[in-house]
Amino acid sequence: MIYKIFVTREIPDEGIKLLKADKRIKLEIYEKDKQIPRRELLKRVKDKDIILSILTERIDDEVFNAAGPQLKMVANYAVGFDNVDLVEAKKRGIAVTNTPSEQISESVAEHTIAFMFSLAKRICEADRFTRAGKYKAWGPKLLLGTDFYGKTVGIIGTGRIGSGVVHRLHDGFNMKILYNDIKRNPQLEKETSAKFRTLEQLLKESDFVSLHVPLSPSTRHLISSKQFKMMKKTAFLINTARGPIIDEKALVKALSKKEIAGVGLDVYECEPMIDCDPKDNLDLREMDNVVLTPHTASATLETRQEMSRLAAENILMFINGKTPKNIVR
Ligand code: GLV
Ligand code: GLV
Repeated sequence: MIYKIFVTREIPDEGIKLLKADKRIKLEIYEKDKQIPRRELLKRVKDKDIILSILTERIDDEVFNAAGPQLKMVANYAVGFDNVDLVEAKKRGIAVTNTPSEQISESVAEHTIAFMFSLAKRICEADRFTRAGKYKAWGPKLLLGTDFYGKTVGIIGTGRIGSGVVHRLHDGFNMKILYNDIKRNPQLEKETSAKFRTLEQLLKESDFVSLHVPLSPSTRHLISSKQFKMMKKTAFLINTARGPIIDEKALVKALSKKEIAGVGLDVYECEPMIDCDPKDNLDLREMDNVVLTPHTASATLETRQEMSRLAAENILMFINGKTPKNIVR
């Protein structure tokens, strides 16, 4: 049997090489290095057996219908899979895989800590200040930040990425660590000083709060007006998970009312828009205590190659009749 595979965007080549080396596979890749237009996607998936998708593609019943009943698998090139309609995939018996690994978790954990440093030490702000020629003289109160030492960090979600952040902060910076999750994490508690708290307690006690839960109906707007009011006025919030976990409108309000001290965001509620409501006169991009990156927490050469390899390996296992390593459905 020949398997027709459509790749919705060029990805690093490791996995592509693996797929190309297999005689049973007929590979078609969207040839431009930009997001495929929806109409083009619907056209190109027709008659394919497998779709290798990236996280900007909504893979839903419209795509499944456009592909046809022979579609067997969606290999998502991402850790998150909220862009794939799992309920619809299940109805149709379509397998879905993702690309989690140690490597990716390390990348995202490092990015999370980069945000913490940037906020606490005001790195981006200081850089803008210096570039603008404003550094005229050393001053005892110039750009005062805050130390990690002796501070409390609250981690929401202690899967691979959240746990990676906890280990680094515990081993490297001797911080006090609180965590919240849908269940206790005894291994993490044993290996580090991490202590379980309810979400409310965690928000009340933490100097840094970092989000590491997947996006689902139960985590959408997990952090909204009520939660911002629970946080310390000196606290920083970091999101390297998924945008809609934070109610962004409430975030902008909380920042402008100084209910929290700052935020580091890699993901956005209305991505790639930075603000859901561009007419709104409060803009995250205008605020100095905000550090923004364009969904690049896993954007290292090593990690993106690993994701490519994992997506391909999942596909090869599937066509060999085995259960793929990273099956999510
Ligand atoms: C990136 O956001 C991913 O889910 O891999
Ligand atoms: C600062 O540069 C100091 O020497 O304290």
